[in-house]
Amino acid sequence: SLKTLAKLAIVGSVMATSFLASAEPIEIKFSHVVAENTPKGQAALKFKELVEKRLPGEYTVSVFPNSQLFGDNNELAALLLNDVQFVAPSLSKFERYTKKLQLFDLPFLFKDMDAVERFQQSEEGQKLLGSMKRKGLVGIGYLHNGMKQFSANEPLLLPKDAEGKKFRVMASDVLAAQFETLNAMAVKKPFSEVFTLLQTRAIDGQENTWSNIYSKKFYEVQSYITESNHGVLDYMVVTSDTFWKSLPADKRKVIKECMDEAIAYGNKMAADKNAEDRQAIIDSKESKVVELTPEQRQAWVDTMKPVWGKFEDQIGKEVIDAAVAANQ
Ligand code: LMR
Repeated sequence: SLKTLAKLAIVGSVMATSFLASAEPIEIKFSHVVAENTPKGQAALKFKELVEKRLPGEYTVSVFPNSQLFGDNNELAALLLNDVQFVAPSLSKFERYTKKLQLFDLPFLFKDMDAVERFQQSEEGQKLLGSMKRKGLVGIGYLHNGMKQFSANEPLLLPKDAEGKKFRVMASDVLAAQFETLNAMAVKKPFSEVFTLLQTRAIDGQENTWSNIYSKKFYEVQSYITESNHGVLDYMVVTSDTFWKSLPADKRKVIKECMDEAIAYGNKMAADKNAEDRQAIIDSKESKVVELTPEQRQAWVDTMKPVWGKFEDQIGKEVIDAAVAANQ
C-alpha cells in the first residue's frame, strides 16, 4: 500500500542519513623517504593538519616518512596504482617518466635557491609540472630542500680528489655522468640504503643537502663534507591523474589549497633548516666541513660543466636557457 511505501521511504532515508553521518572519512596517504624533521617531512605534516581542519570527518591524511610505506624503488609505481595518493620524490627520480626534469640535475646550473625559485615559478618551470601528464602523473607544485654538498672519508678539495672513489647517486643518468667526469664511480641506490652503504664503506661518499646529511646521520659515518653547493635537490609533489579526477571538484579545490599552503610552509623553512643542520654538523665535530676557495670551486665547475652538453637534446636548449636566465 501507499502507507507502507511511505513508511519504507522514511526508514530508507533515516538509514541513509545515519549511514552518511557514520561514514568513515576517506584516507589520503602521503608517503616519503626522509625524516620528519626536514622541509619535506614538515610540509607533509602541515598538509595533514590543514586537510583535517578544513574537511573534518570527510578526509584524513596518513603520512608515512622514512620509506616506511614505499621507498625510492616503488613509490611512483604505487602512486599510479593508487596505493598512495601523494609522493614528493626529488626531481632526480622521474627519469622513467620524463627526461625534461633532468634539467635540475645539471651541475652548477643555479647559483642559489632564489634562482631555483625564480625558475620554478617562471612559465617554463610551471610547464614542467605537466610534463608527465601522459604517464598519469599530475605535478602539484615544487617543494624545496636545498643545494647539495659532497661528503666523503677524505677531503675533496679538487676534482682529482674524487678520482677512483665510489659515490652513491639518486637514480639519475645526469648524476651518474657528473661523477664520471670526475673519473669516479657512481652507484644508483635508494635513499634508505645510503647510511649503511657509508657505514660499511661499500661506498666512499655521496652528495646531499645539509638537512638530509644531518637527519640521516651521514655526517657520523663521513669524515669530510665539502661545501660545494654544486647542484640542487628539490622535489615535485605529485599525485595520480586517476585519484585527482576521482575527487569531487569542490573537495579537490580544498585539497589543492591545503597542498599549496603546505608547500609554501615547507619552502619557507627549507633555507633555515639547512643552515641550522649545517651548524649542528659543525658543532658535532664528527665531520669536518671543508670550504672551497674560489679557485678550487672553479676547478669543479670546469670539470663538471661538460655534462650539460650530453643532455642538452633530451632536456631541450630553451629550457636550459630559461634556467640560466633565472640566475640574473
Ligand atoms: C636522496 O635520495 O638522496 C634524496 O632524494 C632524498 C630526499 O627525498 O630528499
